[in-house]
Amino acid sequence: MLPNWFNKWNRENPKDVFGPGILVGALGGAVFVAIMIVAWGQPYATDSLQTGPRGTGMSVPEFKAELAIPDPDIAELIEDEPYIPEAGDALAKDIYENVQVLGDVTEDNFNRVMAAMTRWVAPEEGCAYCHGDGDVETYGEDTLYTKVVARRMIQMTQNINENWDGHVNANKEVGVTCMTCHRGQNVPSDIWFKVTPVNASTAGWSSNQNRVTPLSQYSSLPSDALEKYLVDGEVIGVHSLESRSDEDITDPDVAGIQNAERTYALMNYVSNSLGVNCVFCHNTRAFYDPEQVTPQWGTESLGIGMVQEMNTEYLIPLGDTYPENRLGHLHGDAPKAACKTCHKGYQQPLQGTNVIQYWPELATTGTPVYE
Ligand code: HEC
Ligand code: HEC
Ligand code: HEC
Ligand code: HEC
Repeated sequence: MLPNWFNKWNRENPKDVFGPGILVGALGGAVFVAIMIVAWGQPYATDSLQTGPRGTGMSVPEFKAELAIPDPDIAELIEDEPYIPEAGDALAKDIYENVQVLGDVTEDNFNRVMAAMTRWVAPEEGCAYCHGDGDVETYGEDTLYTKVVARRMIQMTQNINENWDGHVNANKEVGVTCMTCHRGQNVPSDIWFKVTPVNASTAGWSSNQNRVTPLSQYSSLPSDALEKYLVDGEVIGVHSLESRSDEDITDPDVAGIQNAERTYALMNYVSNSLGVNCVFCHNTRAFYDPEQVTPQWGTESLGIGMVQEMNTEYLIPLGDTYPENRLGHLHGDAPKAACKTCHKGYQQPLQGTNVIQYWPELATTGTPVYE
């Protein structure tokens, strides 16, 4: 290939090209990486959300690259303007046979909500998921469990938006719809069932812990924190900080060591549900001191009350309605919700996008108010 004179010259003048080659390659590579970092930015750059006074280390760091990716479910939200009712518009309760919750909604808006519910909960199955394969005349029947559950779900959603707006509209109007939990799935992600006892070879308290489960956040902490705190309403807190305490730990309002351990399990769950660390809510030098907390601590406190009500008033009583394959595999208990069912790892569900603005029908237990 190469001319003869070059091959001859090459043979007579041997040169080590590897040394300089590696040097040039390494320098060139470094310059290239430097140019890329300047041009494209540092891939592991973080942004910090300061949550407390300077110097206390109260900040929640996150990778900028991750922050820049929006929650993909936001693109699936339905923007469908409601019909502003006019005098004389027929109401659902007058036209249909068996409308128990959405009766005061006009016909157009009722159908708008049905279409949206279908996309939120059963996009593949369609209306038939709750109404069966019959024609629209049969839609008043309550034969399928899915319809009975959905009616209660509508009431639960209305109750959350109306009575827990201190939580779901804590910073601005965000609200919740079926989409907040379901995301196009029949069964929402991040629901939970009772799993304790987790350790068959031990008895009593020990049988609830030291096993890696999703409910212990893959730690050796107890696996019954959600059950005790978000259903039974036991006292959240650490045991007495005095070395000699005369507190009576049989008093249900006094936190014993078991509550302390469960509290840490719950707090890990909360942090994972929101994708934050402990200083999002606490000054970690004094977890116990409600004077040194952030405003988010208050929002969480309301959230705990809200989740307890959702579970005890709505989801657990539905236990008798579901078919067996929807119940817990170990104890046959009803599927339950908690922080992650809505938050899904984000500080605010759907990154704080206002989901309720187009759905006044789901924002109140009374007659919907249209602007
Ligand atoms: C996720 C469950 C679900 C899906 C999917 C669903 N519906 Fe419904 N539907 C309900 C519930 C619950 C009611 C009763 C509401 C009430 O009591 O206020 C209802 C009631 C109705 C009624 C009134 C029937 C009567 O005579 O009482 C009609 C009409 C209706 N739906 C139409 C539809 C259409 C059309 C679709 C598909 C676009 C649909 N629904 C999809 C749950 C659902
Ligand atoms: C706070 C979270 C949450 C919200 C909001 C919510 N749901 Fe649910 N939904 C659940 C949970 C938890 C279950 C139980 C899961 C199961 O069925 O295994 C469930 C189950 C259901 C089921 C039964 C599905 C099945 O296949 O078993 C239907 C139907 C349903 N929801 C409809 C709705 C509708 C319609 C809305 C809005 C009006 C709604 N849900 C809002 C949490 C929620
Ligand atoms: C989203 C806010 C939030 C996050 C994040 C959070 N906490 Fe909490 N924490 C609370 C609230 C609210 C309470 C009080 C609950 C109650 O009493 O009802 C609490 C209570 C506690 C307590 C009990 C204090 C007492 O009264 O004895 C401890 C300990 C604790 N948290 C530790 C942690 C740890 C450790 C983390 C990180 C893994 C964490 N928390 C993350 C909000 C939060
Ligand atoms: C029914 C759905 C739902 C459930 C369940 C839920 N949240 Fe929320 N939460 C929301 C919505 C919606 C917001 C956004 C409010 C806003 O930013 O205006 C929010 C906001 C928050 C905030 C404030 C975030 C901020 O940036 O200021 C905290 C803290 C929080 N939730 C903690 C919790 C904890 C802890 C639980 C479980 C005990 C919980 N949430 C359960 C829907 C829910």
